[in-house]
Parts: sequence; structure tokens; C-alpha cells
Amino acid sequence: MVKDILTLGIESSCDETAVAVVKNGREVLSNVIFSQIDIHALYGGVVPEIASRNHIEVIDKVTTEALKQAQVTLDDIDNIGVTYGAGLVGALLVGVSFAKALSQITNKPLYAVNHIEGHICANFITYKDLQPPFICLLVSGGHTSIVNVLGYNKFDIICSTIDDAIGESFDKVARILGLPYPGGPQIDKLAKTGKPSIAFPSALQKNGNFSYSGLKTAVINYSHNLSQNHIDFNPNDLCASFSSAAIDGLIERSKVALRESNQKNIAVAGGVAANSYLRSKLTQLTNNGYNVFLPKLNLCGDNGAMIASRAYFMYLENIPIATTQLNADPSLKLRVNNLRH
Ligand code: KG4
Ligand code: ZN
Repeated sequence: MVKDILTLGIESSCDETAVAVVKNGREVLSNVIFSQIDIHALYGGVVPEIASRNHIEVIDKVTTEALKQAQVTLDDIDNIGVTYGAGLVGALLVGVSFAKALSQITNKPLYAVNHIEGHICANFITYKDLQPPFICLLVSGGHTSIVNVLGYNKFDIICSTIDDAIGESFDKVARILGLPYPGGPQIDKLAKTGKPSIAFPSALQKNGNFSYSGLKTAVINYSHNLSQNHIDFNPNDLCASFSSAAIDGLIERSKVALRESNQKNIAVAGGVAANSYLRSKLTQLTNNGYNVFLPKLNLCGDNGAMIASRAYFMYLENIPIATTQLNADPSLKLRVNNLRH
């Protein structure tokens, strides 16, 4: 009988301190998330220094709780995975230093996980039979790409944003409307009862990449013009119009990517994968004969389970384990080989 492999996943790249225990890369035994959202909401966004301090205060407790909920001890853990990029350098360093120390004292192998590759793995946890290849729409606070997931360790970027990330634009537009941080879920909620009646420019560019900076500026200009002329506008309509301009192009481009790569499976990953409009538009692709994979909502945002899952697949594919020299890499990227500018 093949031995079960238990992986401890540690995530501290932004404002969530998260630790999980995952069996064989797909079965979550525990997934503890300490969110700092309430702390940063006071400032309207993440304050890096405060994020690092809070990670330091709770990371050991979150780890103890994750082991407890999984009903295992450190002795039972086979591998440790930790996010080493991309993210806030001070925040990443807390997880990396903690994981290196844990690996040293327990003598367990440590895997250096790319946060974005971790997000993709939320799909392997949600869908036990899902295997590459598939197209993945990568939509988070820091990334926007359509990726061809050719293998568990083989990613090809088909197209990307040329400026802001989609999540960043949701957060900025929310700020213009005076909505609390993080803005994505707030816009999602208001958009549900709004009409997409305002013609904002699509984020999809003629060259097949995306621009969210232009869309954000168009929303700012629209709301400033009306405010200066003391004309009221319906924020729900604005949210629905913005969501449509931000997301419709992603869906259109995904269809092209599916056709060109001759694939039938499309998944989504990252914080914005929780967006209800995006999920319903993607679900409609089933009418075109595609299989659509939507990660469970609690696996869309940052969590330790996706990091543990990624570390497990790195272990399976014999990716070298990290040394004590491992450092945080705040601007770590997926390999880009096909960006059409
Ligand atoms: O993946 P994530 O938790 O952190 C990064 O790796 O960046 O993504 C966070 C982003 C934020 O910009 C947040 O506003 C956005 O995901 N987000 C949403 C929704 N939930 C979270 N955006 C749109 N609709 C949502 N429901
Ligand atoms: Zn993330």
C-alpha cells in the first residue's frame, strides 16, 4: 500500500496568516486562516509593517491549531511547504523564517512555494480527479493572466495584464466609491442588483492582453465628472458596469485560449475567483461544451491548504527541496514565454 503523505502548508504573503495540513495534495485535514482584514480596514488597505508584526504574533499559534484540528503532531508531517513569493517582503519573511526553523528542528524537507502556483492547486483540492492539462484564469490582487497548465509543474502564460491586476482595480474602484477594504467583495455585492448601463472600456486590449489601469481611470473620471456637476449616480449600476468591463473580456479571451490550445477544461484561481459574476459567466461556458472548474469559495483567497497542495506536487515531481539559504522573493513570477505586446 502506498503511504499517505501529509504536508504542512504555511502562507504569510499578505494579510492572512494561514497554516494547513493536507493529505496527498488533495484532502484538507485542517485549514486555519487568521485574517488581518479588520486591522488593515482601518487604514483602507494593507499596511506592510503592521502585516509583518501580526504574522509574527500569531504564526506559531496558527500552526499549533492547524496540527490540532488535523489531529496530528509534527512527527506525522512528511513535508513542509511555505510561500516565498510573490508578496510583501516583510510578511513573506515571517513565514519563510518560521518554516526554515521548523524544517531544521524537525528534519522535514522544506519546499519553496510560488504563491500563484499555490492558487492553481486550489482546483486540485476541490476536484479530486482534475489533472493537467487545463486552461486557468489566474485572477488575484497581484496577478491577472490566462495560463496553460500543461503539467503539475509546467505552466505557460498565454496572456496577462500589462499594468494593474484585476483585484487591485476592484479595490481601487471600491475606494473611489467609499466602500470598505477589501473592495472586491463589496463591489460584487452591489453589482448583483445593478445594471451594466455605463459603457466603460473593456479591460481586453486589441493585442489579446489586458489593461486594468485604463478601466480604473475611466471609472474615476466618470464619478468625478458627475460629482462635480452634482449629478447623482447609482453605485450599483456603476459596480455592475465596472464588473462587466473587467470580466467579460477575460471570458472572451479564455474562449480563444481554449480554442487555440485545443482544450476542453477551464479552471479559475486567486482571490477574484470568488466573484459571483465571474463564476456565473464561466459556468455559462458549459453551454459551449467546456468543463468548468471553480474552486470552493474558502479556497479562492489566500490559504495554507493550496500551499501544502503545491508543495506535495513539487515533492511528487522531485523538485529540489529548499536550503537554509531560502529567501523571500517579493516579485516572483510565473514563467512568461508568450506575452503578446
Ligand atoms: O488571492 P488574494 O486573496 O490575494 C492575492 O494573492 O492578491 O486576492 C485578493 C484580491 C483582492 O483584490 C480582493 O478585493 C479580491 O481578491 N476579491 C474579489 C472578491 N473577493 C476577493 N474581487 C472581486 N469579487 C470578489 N468576490
Ligand atoms: Zn493570493
